[in-house]
Amino acid sequence: MARITAGVTTSHVPAIGAAIDNGHTASDYWAPMFAGYEWSKKWIAEEPPDVVVLVYNDHASAFSLQMIPTFAIGCADVFAIADEGWGPRPIPPVIGDSDFACHLAQSLILDEFDMTIINEMTVDHGLTVPLSLMFGQPEVWPVKVVPIAVNVIQYPPPTGERCFKLGQALRRAIESYDEDLNVHVWGTGGMSHQLQGPRAGLINQPFDNAFLDNMTQNPEALRKIPHLEYLREAGSEGIELVMWLIMRGALGEHVTPLHRFYHVPASNTAVGHLVLDAEPGR
Ligand code: DHB
Ligand code: FE
Repeated sequence: MARITAGVTTSHVPAIGAAIDNGHTASDYWAPMFAGYEWSKKWIAEEPPDVVVLVYNDHASAFSLQMIPTFAIGCADVFAIADEGWGPRPIPPVIGDSDFACHLAQSLILDEFDMTIINEMTVDHGLTVPLSLMFGQPEVWPVKVVPIAVNVIQYPPPTGERCFKLGQALRRAIESYDEDLNVHVWGTGGMSHQLQGPRAGLINQPFDNAFLDNMTQNPEALRKIPHLEYLREAGSEGIELVMWLIMRGALGEHVTPLHRFYHVPASNTAVGHLVLDAEPGR
């Protein structure tokens, strides 16, 4: 049977991708940020999962503003890299797992989560920057990826509570797959940031650190955070944090934190990163 062995959260700032692609990771500005991922890169290289179910948001790259699914699942066997204005990032295409993704889609939909099925799409920095942070610059990505895209771009995004419940359904879906797969669930985006308007540049370190604490100590509290609180405390793009709750819902009650990192700022954003063991004591 497929099983969830770990969860990862990380911010997905596009400038991080540009720093990697252009060889700037050792600069004074970037080195302290990348240092926070060294442990994680070693950890994942030692025991890479077979598949990452990667929860992220598209930034009007694949979906444009003509169609915006609230929750979507990528069922293709390959996802090309999106052109976000400077040409596609010079990284390998993302390899999917069509059979597994179709099983997840069936299980989630029959479990009353009306996922949009995506058979062809490109993937943008929301998905590729987390891959680059965890795996560096390989010729071929060492894992397959099932993308789960969440609308946090146009109001109304789903609630944190709904996202947490989708995570719980995702666990049931993963654990009902016959193949013996080692699966990670990643929640990406966040932490506090606002890219627009009079409060552009907003970062709220106390809010972010409490959120990081509660990912392990009190996820029940995170489920209840309403949209307006994200907006007020974490800025207009802080709502990306609801995607972390899909990962947290999927991991079940008991997790052990393996690694935690917080760094301010990267571009306009507070970078937060967690690695959680989903099978404590294994
Ligand atoms: C930035 C952060 C994001 O999450 C994003 O999607 C785009 C830009 C930034 O900090 O520049
Ligand atoms: Fe974003």
